[in-house]
Amino acid sequence: MSSDSGDYENLIVDFKDTVATITINRPDVLNALNAETIRELGEAVDFLAADDRCHVLIITGAGEQAFVAGADISVLATYDPVDAREAARFGQATFDKIEECGKPVIAAINGYALGGGFELALACHIRFAAEGAQVGLPEIDLGVIPGHGGTQRLTRLLGKSAAIKLICSGAHVNATDAVSLGLVNAVYPADSLMEAVYGFAIKLASKPRIAMRYALEAVNQGLNVTLKEGQAIEADLFGLCFATEDQTEGMNAFLEKRKANWKGR
Ligand code: COA
Repeated sequence: MSSDSGDYENLIVDFKDTVATITINRPDVLNALNAETIRELGEAVDFLAADDRCHVLIITGAGEQAFVAGADISVLATYDPVDAREAARFGQATFDKIEECGKPVIAAINGYALGGGFELALACHIRFAAEGAQVGLPEIDLGVIPGHGGTQRLTRLLGKSAAIKLICSGAHVNATDAVSLGLVNAVYPADSLMEAVYGFAIKLASKPRIAMRYALEAVNQGLNVTLKEGQAIEADLFGLCFATEDQTEGMNAFLEKRKANWKGR
């Protein structure tokens, strides 16, 4: 795996073929997110979104204990109301960048994904977890509520009542239950998680990239509008696919009974 792209204090960015992995690297505090880490994360996502070498992103945490154990509570404890609002808006905007980067982003949840860590995973498009991982939004037990999109994304994912149950109890959910609830897509033994995530990522990475981007865009935008408006967006993006070489190639390849040779155009 080759290392790459910028000198980050709190992240490691690696490339393996066309898959980039961002590792949150503060294992001494279970990869808790301070403002600098969130700033670097936004920078790395912007960089990888614009980098043609990168087709798919993986986000994970350093060490064996945690994906990300939340916002850094030692920093949160110093905030006044204005600081707290600014920090929430900054975290939300950064996690929006992930959701809207135009490339599939997979969270490899290798341990605790709590509070801001779970909110980070929720902003990713796909979530795979290690067997011992735990996810949850325990902010209520710190006297606050989730502030990086958790109340909104969890509700869209689970529906109102199930989301309220998790947010108001602050409960940790183990990996098996997280799959049953639809919070994560699949669970793997800890020692094969990254291999499984990469295997899935490289499959996505080999697909036509413009159609991939439009699929993400249709789903993302559709969640925020009415069904009719969402279908109009879908039709526009479906139509735009027919402006790509990959659409011609994909359909010709099917009709000629051969493998498509995608150009990413
Ligand atoms: N912010 C800052 N530091 C954190 C942190 C966070 N969110 N989560 C863990 N840490 C630090 C601990 O303070 C500890 O530091 P220390 O070694 O200097 O004492 C270190 O990471 C290891 O954590 P520790 O609590 O000793 O590990 P544990 O295995 O006993 O418990 C957790 C793991 C995840 C259950 C526990 O750390 C925890 O509850 N963390 C906070 C989760 C949370 O509320 N997140 C939402 C924040 S909005």
